[in-house]
Amino acid sequence: MLQNKLNVANLNTPIHKLEQLSQALGKSIYIKRDDYTGTEISGNKVRKLEYTIQYVLDNGYDTVITTGAITSNHARATAALCAQYNIECHLVLRGELEAYEGNLFLGAMLGAHLHVIEPEASREKAMEALYKTLESQGKTPFSIPVGASDWIGTHGYVHAFEEILKQEEELNIAFDSINVAVGSGGTYAGLWYGNEQHQTTKQITGYAVDQSTDAFHKKVTEIIQQLDDSISDFDTVHINDAYIGLGYGQATDEELQFYIDIAQLEGIILDPTYTGKAFKGLVEEIKAGRYDNQEYILFIHTGGLQGYTEETRRRLQRMLPEISETK
Ligand SMILES: Cc1ncc(COP(=O)(O)O)c(C=O)c1O
Repeated sequence: MLQNKLNVANLNTPIHKLEQLSQALGKSIYIKRDDYTGTEISGNKVRKLEYTIQYVLDNGYDTVITTGAITSNHARATAALCAQYNIECHLVLRGELEAYEGNLFLGAMLGAHLHVIEPEASREKAMEALYKTLESQGKTPFSIPVGASDWIGTHGYVHAFEEILKQEEELNIAFDSINVAVGSGGTYAGLWYGNEQHQTTKQITGYAVDQSTDAFHKKVTEIIQQLDDSISDFDTVHINDAYIGLGYGQATDEELQFYIDIAQLEGIILDPTYTGKAFKGLVEEIKAGRYDNQEYILFIHTGGLQGYTEETRRRLQRMLPEISETK
């Protein structure tokens, strides 16, 4: 295991109970606020990047290339840390260039070089080509995979799992499960591996936001085997793909209404790409009785509020009361 990491995230992130929802569902539901890790670096990505950027610095790289969707939280957090540590940053962002907003805008403001590629283009090929160009310019680039979800980045959530164990002692609670959104697998993999190392009885449940259960099982297995090749039993990897809905970054009206309901019930804003889908999945699974053998349930809010695009905001506006203007 890597020992060296940056210390830039605001840790430990708090855990608190969702009182109204717990009452409504007859369970003790808690939330861990990894959306509080920072502002520019907010969300789960910085926990992974604390290890990845330290690795970049320790190994003498001067340039970072990473990739994601055009709305990528990971890309924005990488841009922020590269600015802070004086590393040249290149973001290969896939998707339609519709509006200069959210993470795209923030990434540019943080000084990253933006390379937007077509929605169907290969991110890996674009990164390889860019790598060669940067190398030919005399730079020493390091490629961070999507979401920093590899053996290095996943350390961040092994660490987070240990943080949760300490917080359980302070709160005098033992969580029966830890629930989280799965986008590129590194967050889930770290939690699962932490649980495995500490041999607890917790269930680590992931809610997929785009790919299938099988695809994520494979991805998580690969990440963990890169980290520790002595692990061969992955039967307890539990990733539910029933709540992807319309697909990555797409929200139904029902989902949007759920985000409004949770905001008004608990004062918490879920994001429409990751935490919203995952949290809706968790609530529906509890209602369907699939958590009947559990009392203490933890959800990790992994951030992502910058993902509310203009189009989603406009749709939400139509579902909310009209603004009354007093002249
Ligand atoms: C806000 C947010 N939550 C959850 C995730 C999922 O984490 P991971 O990519 O480690 O599976 C991501 C990124 O994909 C994210 O940006």
